[in-house]
Amino acid sequence: MSQYVAAIDQGTTSTRCMIFDHSGRVVSVDQREHKQIFPQAGWVEHDPEEVWRNTREVCAGALAKKDLVTSDVVAVGITNQRETAVVWDRTTGKPVYNAIVWQDTRTDRIVDELGRDGGPDRYRARTGLPLATYFSGPKVKWILDNVDGARAKAEAGDLLFGNMDTWVLWNATGGPNGGLHYTDPTNASRTMLMDLDTLSWAEDHAADMGIPVSMLPEIRSSSEVYGNIRERGAFAGLPVAGILGDQQAATFGQACLSPGEAKNTYGTGNFVLLNTGTEKVMSENGLLTTVCYKIGDNDAVYALEGSIAVTGSLVQWLRDNLGIIAAAPEIEPLARSVDDNGGAYFVPAFSGLFAPYWRSDARGAIVGLTRFVSKGHIARAVLEATAFQSREVIDAMNADSGVALTSLKVDGGMVANELLMQFQADILGVPVIRPVVAETTALGAAYAAGLAVGFWGSEDDIRTNWAQDKQWDPDMDEAHREKIYRTWKKAVTKTFDWVE
Ligand code: G3P
Repeated sequence: MSQYVAAIDQGTTSTRCMIFDHSGRVVSVDQREHKQIFPQAGWVEHDPEEVWRNTREVCAGALAKKDLVTSDVVAVGITNQRETAVVWDRTTGKPVYNAIVWQDTRTDRIVDELGRDGGPDRYRARTGLPLATYFSGPKVKWILDNVDGARAKAEAGDLLFGNMDTWVLWNATGGPNGGLHYTDPTNASRTMLMDLDTLSWAEDHAADMGIPVSMLPEIRSSSEVYGNIRERGAFAGLPVAGILGDQQAATFGQACLSPGEAKNTYGTGNFVLLNTGTEKVMSENGLLTTVCYKIGDNDAVYALEGSIAVTGSLVQWLRDNLGIIAAAPEIEPLARSVDDNGGAYFVPAFSGLFAPYWRSDARGAIVGLTRFVSKGHIARAVLEATAFQSREVIDAMNADSGVALTSLKVDGGMVANELLMQFQADILGVPVIRPVVAETTALGAAYAAGLAVGFWGSEDDIRTNWAQDKQWDPDMDEAHREKIYRTWKKAVTKTFDWVE
C-alpha cells in the first residue's frame, strides 16, 4: 500500500488540495476558485465561509479523483496566501466581516497614523517590515474599528483573529468544538505583530493597534503535529503537521535550504525569497526580512523577501476587466504576435507598489503609447512587467547580500509561459531554472508535514527529490537589456504621487 502526504494550498484566487508521493511527485490535485470581492476601489475581500467550503470540497475531490481513501494519507500540511486577515466569533465560528485580502489598501490612513510616531520604519527593527497596507495588523484594527460591536466582543475575549492558515486549521480541527487556534512563525511574521528574534507576539505593537492579545493565535513551529482533523469528512483523524505561508512553502519545496539559495514564485503576485540561514538580515534596499521556516525545535531560518503585488493577476485583469484574452494562456500567442513591446510599458501599481518602493500613493499606468501600439504589444508589456519587477527586487537582493545571484529557480503558474521565462533570463542576465514539480508551494507544505511524522527523514530527502525540468539562458545584448530596463524604471516613476 502506497502512502502519501496531502497539502491544502489556500491561495489568493483558489484553494487546492494536492497529494504527493515519497519522491515528491503529484499524485492527485483538486482545485476550486473563490469569489474576488471588490466593494470599492482599492478594497479586496474574500468570503471565509466560501473558502472553508471549498477547502473541504477539494480535500474530498483530491482523494476521489484517484480513488484514494483517507488511510492512504499519513499527514496533512497547510499553506496559504499570507497577510489576509479573518476575524471570527469563537463560539459561533462565524466571521464578523469578510477576509481582508493582502492586496487591499483600505488601511492606508491607519498606516499613515501609525507612522506619525516613528516614521515608516517604526516597526522594522523588530518585525522586518515597513509600515504598509500589505500586512495583517492594521487590517485587524480596521475590522475592530469599523464593524459594529466588534471591538467590545474582542475585548470580552469572544473574537479570534487568524490568517488563512489559522482559519483553515481551526475549522479543520473542530471549529467551535475544540478547533486549534495556532499559526506558525512564517505567517505570524507577516502581521507586523511578531518579534522576529523571540518569535512571540510584540504585545506593544498589538496595543498600538488596539488589538487584544487574546485574539491572536498561538505561534507554534512550521513542522510538528499540531493535532488531528475532526472526525468527519475527508482526512478525518489525520494529523495536521505542517504550516508555512505560501512563499516560504515554495522556498522549502524548491529545496532552497542553504544560505544564498533563492526562488521566484510566479502567482497572483511574484515573491522572491533568499534564504539567509539562521541570521536575520535587515534590508537597506526595500526588501522584507521574514521567517523562512522553523522545523520543530530547530532554530528559525530567515529570508530576505522581494514582494511584488501584481504579476499573474495582471493577466487575469486583462482577461476579466478588458476582455483582451478569453483565457490566461492566450496571452503567450498574443504576445508572440509582435516582436517587442512597441514602446509600451505597463506598471501594475494596483495595490500601490510593494518592494522595493513601498509606495501606497502609486497607481497603475500604461506609458509610451502611440497609435502603433496594438493589443499584442499590451500583452507583451503585461508579461514584461513581471520580469522587470522581478529584476528590481533581485537587484535589491544583490545589493543587500553583496553577492550577485548566479541563477534563479522559478515556480508557480506563469512558469509555463516560455516567452516570459526567456525574457526573464534576458532581463536578469542569469539562467532561469524550472523544476520538474513547478507546484512547489503545496510541495513545501507537504514536506513540512511529512518531516514531522517521519514520512521523510530529513531535509536531505527534499534536496534529493528536487529535479530540474528546463533552463533558459540569457540571450539579449547587454546594451539593449540596460536600455529597456532604464525605460521601465522611468515608467515606474510615472505612477508615483497619484493618491493624495
Ligand atoms: O503575500 C501574499 C502571498 O502570500 C500571496 O500568494 O500565490 O496566493 O498569490 P498567492
